[in-house]
Amino acid sequence: MVNQEDFFKKVISHAKEYGYIFQSSEIYDGLSAVYDYGQNGVELKKNIREYWWKAMVQMNENIVGIDAAIFMHPTTWKASGHVDAFNDPLIDNKDSKKRYRADVLVEDYVAKIEAKIEKEIAKAEKRFGEAFDKEQFVSTNARVLEYKNQAETILKRLAKSLENEDLADVKALIEELEIACPESGSKNWTDVKQFNLMFGTKLGATADTAMDLYLRPETAQGIFVNFSNVQKTGRMKIPFGIAQTGKAFRNEIVARQFIFRMREFEQMEMQFFIKPGTQKEWYEYWKENRLKWHLSLGMGDNNYRFHDHEKLAHYADAACDIEFKFPFGFKELEGIHSRTDFDLGNHEKYSGKKLQYFDPEENKSYVPYVLETSIGLDRMFLAVFSNALQEETLEGGDTRTVLRLPFVLAPTKVAVLPLLKKDGLPEIAREIIEELKFDFNVAYDEKDAVGRRYRRQDAAGTPFCVTVDHQTKEDQTVTLRHRDTMEQIRIPISQLRVAIAKEVDMRNWLKKIK
Ligand code: GAP
Repeated sequence: MVNQEDFFKKVISHAKEYGYIFQSSEIYDGLSAVYDYGQNGVELKKNIREYWWKAMVQMNENIVGIDAAIFMHPTTWKASGHVDAFNDPLIDNKDSKKRYRADVLVEDYVAKIEAKIEKEIAKAEKRFGEAFDKEQFVSTNARVLEYKNQAETILKRLAKSLENEDLADVKALIEELEIACPESGSKNWTDVKQFNLMFGTKLGATADTAMDLYLRPETAQGIFVNFSNVQKTGRMKIPFGIAQTGKAFRNEIVARQFIFRMREFEQMEMQFFIKPGTQKEWYEYWKENRLKWHLSLGMGDNNYRFHDHEKLAHYADAACDIEFKFPFGFKELEGIHSRTDFDLGNHEKYSGKKLQYFDPEENKSYVPYVLETSIGLDRMFLAVFSNALQEETLEGGDTRTVLRLPFVLAPTKVAVLPLLKKDGLPEIAREIIEELKFDFNVAYDEKDAVGRRYRRQDAAGTPFCVTVDHQTKEDQTVTLRHRDTMEQIRIPISQLRVAIAKEVDMRNWLKKIK
């Protein structure tokens, strides 16, 4: 069995080998934490975006979409709190000159304690076999309880010092835990400082007329500043939502783990405008609704969990993450935030414009409260891709690499393969493609033995292979091979489109989100 680190390396190399993700500007040795999507990556990303968009906008009468510009008036970021509060606590190691996020150093330390708990569980599972009761073991085993207590105490203290902006205590914690620089092994640390994550740029040509701008660090503010435009022109009644997907930029200090934490990334966000006082019920509603969206993709119910925030962002009165089990452990995939009237209220204050809603039932105007769902598209891509990559041992001892992407998200839905490169088989394969390409992305492959071609499509994540053989010429049937079961059925060419559509159509997947 490969360990997590090796598996993650395999994810990265497989993503490159099969045209999913490339390092940005690779011929110049790349740019740290910036990535490009290749010919398959762009399709997978587009399909995830579409699956989100349809679930949020198309399936909900009271949610509409917008596409706001990346550049926004600089006062936006003053009002949103990002100029003053969008900081990470930084610490430098004096020997290696490496810079770290102080909170991440502590969290990594805690992750090691958690790994010890997992080890204890695995050992006990082996020892007790079928009779093993994980829940009971975790709640009674003295060593596990001690580890859990240690982890909780550290995280509580970290949350408290960050909450109180007590950076000296964050440093004290790092020293008490004797955390060493992962690069040099040295414990020679600077003080902890705050560092703003927004990228600055300039609008305008001349030095004296140029205006300082920021690249947006989240898409949400484009929604808030358009609240009245959309509400009035769309005659929207509360509760209603505005959704948006688009690029966001953050000068992340600890940018690593591939596309998990990038400097340029894409978000899919939805702001749901509600009556003040109803935020608790909407918070629960959207937690449940978003989890259902994830579960509908069939990537394993046990791979998700909720994590409630102890330290709330400057705008929130309640917040949690949906965490996913990435190759490096459970980490945030999506955030659900109860943002109160913080954003609209502040934009009112800074712009001098009213951002209120006249509620005909209450016969009064108010600044709506907001419930936000916010997911990183690239992070979702990583969740889908890493979860899908599997090495299987087949009967007879052979292995195959298979990318078990949910069919609805797979870049290419079907590959058409003539058994031989002669006897008119390629021509029939081309005719089939001409018909299927109106509905699906289709690939054609005639090189190598058909078994090798199946393996290539398995590794690229293609759900179906259609093989044209000599029998096809006689009775217009082909074989349809299923990526996951490897089962092959013989079906008439005329039934292919419907048979494939049944499995890959977004409609059938969206129906699973009840
Ligand atoms: N509008 C709220 C907001 O932006 P966030 O928790 O900072 O909240 C939301 O970000 C989501 O965006 C995260 O759950 C994550 O999926 C994604 N995300 C944030 N920073 C990211 C980064 N540097 N690289 C990739 N995805 C990121």
